[in-house]
Amino acid sequence: MVAGLCLAAALALGMAIGFPSVAAQDVDRMAGVRAQDKVLRGDAKCTRCHDEDEKYPVLAIGRTAHGTLADSRTPTCTACHGESGDHADAPEKHPYPDRWFGRDSSQSSDERSEPCLGCHQGGSRMHWAGGNHANRDVACTSCHRIHASHDRVRDRLTQSEVCFTCHKAQRIQVNRPYRHPIREGKIACSDCHNPHGSAGPAMMVRDGINDTCYACHMEKRGPFVRNHQPVQENCAICHDPHGTTAPGMLRSRTPFLCQECHEPSTHQGSIGSLAATGGRDKNTLARGCLNCHTQVHGSNSPLDERNERLFQR
Ligand code: HEC
Ligand code: HEC
Ligand code: HEC
Ligand code: HEC
Ligand code: HEC
Ligand code: HEC
Ligand code: HEC
Ligand code: HEC
Ligand code: HEC
Ligand code: HEC
Repeated sequence: MVAGLCLAAALALGMAIGFPSVAAQDVDRMAGVRAQDKVLRGDAKCTRCHDEDEKYPVLAIGRTAHGTLADSRTPTCTACHGESGDHADAPEKHPYPDRWFGRDSSQSSDERSEPCLGCHQGGSRMHWAGGNHANRDVACTSCHRIHASHDRVRDRLTQSEVCFTCHKAQRIQVNRPYRHPIREGKIACSDCHNPHGSAGPAMMVRDGINDTCYACHMEKRGPFVRNHQPVQENCAICHDPHGTTAPGMLRSRTPFLCQECHEPSTHQGSIGSLAATGGRDKNTLARGCLNCHTQVHGSNSPLDERNERLFQR
């Protein structure tokens, strides 16, 4: 009944735009029988030729969210690939449908993303337009697999592999000794980044870098009696969240990290000097500056207010 209605509607459309006959399109010319839809509403127009037997099997789409026939908003083949009447009538003369997505597609990323945005605008994609991905020719289908029942990019264990096809530097970083547990699938790139674009820097899921870190590292938010300026400003000044060779995911080891901003001569008198420690420099031994300044993220010691114990307790 439903299929009949669709066919009638398609027939009317076909005649209006001058195709010979839609009925002919949906009939397998060799077998002479009317083709049945296989997985999506109205897919017979395409699936009479394209099915699991060819080099690119297409029917697994029936096992994805797009194949939920009970959901009337789900697409049919032509919602993404275009009406493609010429192609369906004479594929030997028109080897491609109106829109195609494979690696060899010559269509722009905007053209390829257009049908997706028609149904998936807003939500987490509010900042897609103008985002660094959309601007750099990345299409929805550069990440999402549509015809596969497993969409690698939405699986936390396999997601990073999709990103690494373009982001090689991060692949190297997440394999360093000090890193977030991304390889184990406990943390995903998308815990920190919204790959669809965002209002924050570096496509952060929150409006700022620190806000993104606080989501899991709440204790670093404070408030503290005494704040350390760079911590308030941006966690990534000292940490590289993708991975580093220095413990604590620091960009470099102490004392070097600290001395990027603090002159070694900071300490008046002899604290930390070679002379005072009998030839061994406390600043470079063991935890370096952290031997004494244990609370680098901010401290709640009332003494800090009077500059007596800076970030030491
Ligand atoms: C009459 C048979 C027939 C019908 C109907 C048909 N196609 Fe095709 N299609 C082909 C052939 C043949 C090719 C070329 C295959 C090749 O080069 O390997 C092709 C190629 C394609 C390609 C490009 C494949 C590639 O390698 O990049 C896509 C995408 C496609 N068809 C989608 C569709 C869609 C969507 C529909 C329905 C609107 C449809 N086809 C209807 C026969 C058909
Ligand atoms: C939601 C959008 C969408 C729908 C619906 C859809 N496709 Fe596709 N199709 C794609 C994308 C994207 C690709 C590229 C490969 C992938 O993502 O799996 C593709 C690839 C193909 C290919 C292989 C050509 C290539 O470029 O590698 C064929 C053939 C094809 N689709 C036919 C169909 C048929 C037949 C239907 C209906 C049963 C259909 N498609 C429904 C988006 C869609
Ligand atoms: C005709 C409307 C329509 C089109 C076109 C369409 N989608 Fe969808 N899509 C849906 C519906 C409906 C669902 C299932 C309900 C939902 O999750 O919103 C869905 C589900 C999805 C999901 C899974 C969401 C989940 O939570 O499981 C992804 C990913 C997706 N679409 C991406 C795409 C991409 C990429 C394209 C373009 C190649 C596209 N869609 C084209 C309507 C559409
Ligand atoms: C750079 C890779 C990438 C690109 C490009 C991309 N996505 Fe996604 N998408 C993802 C990831 C990763 C998730 C899972 C996010 C999560 O679990 O928080 C996702 C989730 C989704 C979902 C399901 C959850 C939701 O937000 O509703 C839909 C629908 C979706 N994407 C549609 C799209 C559309 C439409 C486009 C193009 C405008 C697109 N995506 C472009 C990586 C991408
Ligand atoms: C098809 C290639 C491609 C894929 C796949 C891809 N990206 Fe990108 N991404 C780019 C390009 C191109 C840029 C812009 C240039 C640059 O910064 O390298 C970019 C930029 C970024 C940026 C920097 C944004 C900014 O504003 O500075 C982040 C973060 C990012 N991508 C995250 C991801 C994540 C996470 C994934 C996987 C879910 C992913 N990308 C998948 C191509 C890709
Ligand atoms: C714990 C949070 C976090 C996770 C997880 C994370 N990132 Fe990032 N990423 C950041 C922050 C913060 C920045 C910006 C500061 C910086 O450049 O280090 C950034 C920057 C980037 C950039 C831009 C780099 C540049 O030089 O402009 C890319 C690309 C990127 N991330 C990709 C990824 C990919 C791919 C993954 C997953 C393998 C990932 N990120 C996981 C926090 C994260
Ligand atoms: C989705 C949750 C999540 C987010 C968001 C997050 N982290 Fe983490 N972070 C973790 C987990 C889980 C660990 C590992 C804890 C463990 O191994 O015991 C960790 C560990 C760390 C460590 C300690 C590494 C070590 O070797 O001791 C640092 C530093 C760190 N994160 C910094 C950041 C920064 C900076 C950001 C923001 C750019 C951030 N994290 C965002 C979950 C998160
Ligand atoms: C001035 C440099 C600096 C900045 C900025 C900084 N950190 Fe740290 N962070 C450190 C140092 C040094 C350690 C190692 C401390 C240790 O080993 O006791 C560390 C350790 C950590 C650890 C692991 C040990 C612990 O204390 O839990 C986490 C998590 C962490 N930082 C998160 C953050 C977050 C989140 C931010 C931003 C709000 C941030 N850091 C900003 C220097 C910094
Ligand atoms: C990106 C630059 C930067 C880095 C890296 C940095 N700091 Fe700071 N630090 C500052 C600034 C700015 C202040 C505030 C100075 C002021 O108020 O006069 C400060 C203040 C301090 C103070 C308190 C001084 C005072 O007079 O209030 C101590 C102690 C301190 N830092 C220790 C460290 C240690 C230990 C490290 C390494 C783990 C470190 N800093 C890394 C920029 C940095
Ligand atoms: C042996 C313990 C100890 C070590 C190691 C140490 N500090 Fe301190 N630091 C102190 C004490 C105590 C004070 C407060 C008294 C003072 O100003 O001399 C202080 C004060 C400071 C101040 C603010 C006072 C000023 O003079 O501006 C900075 C900045 C600072 N330390 C940075 C560092 C850095 C960077 C390192 C590593 C290179 C380091 N400290 C190693 C004990 C230490």
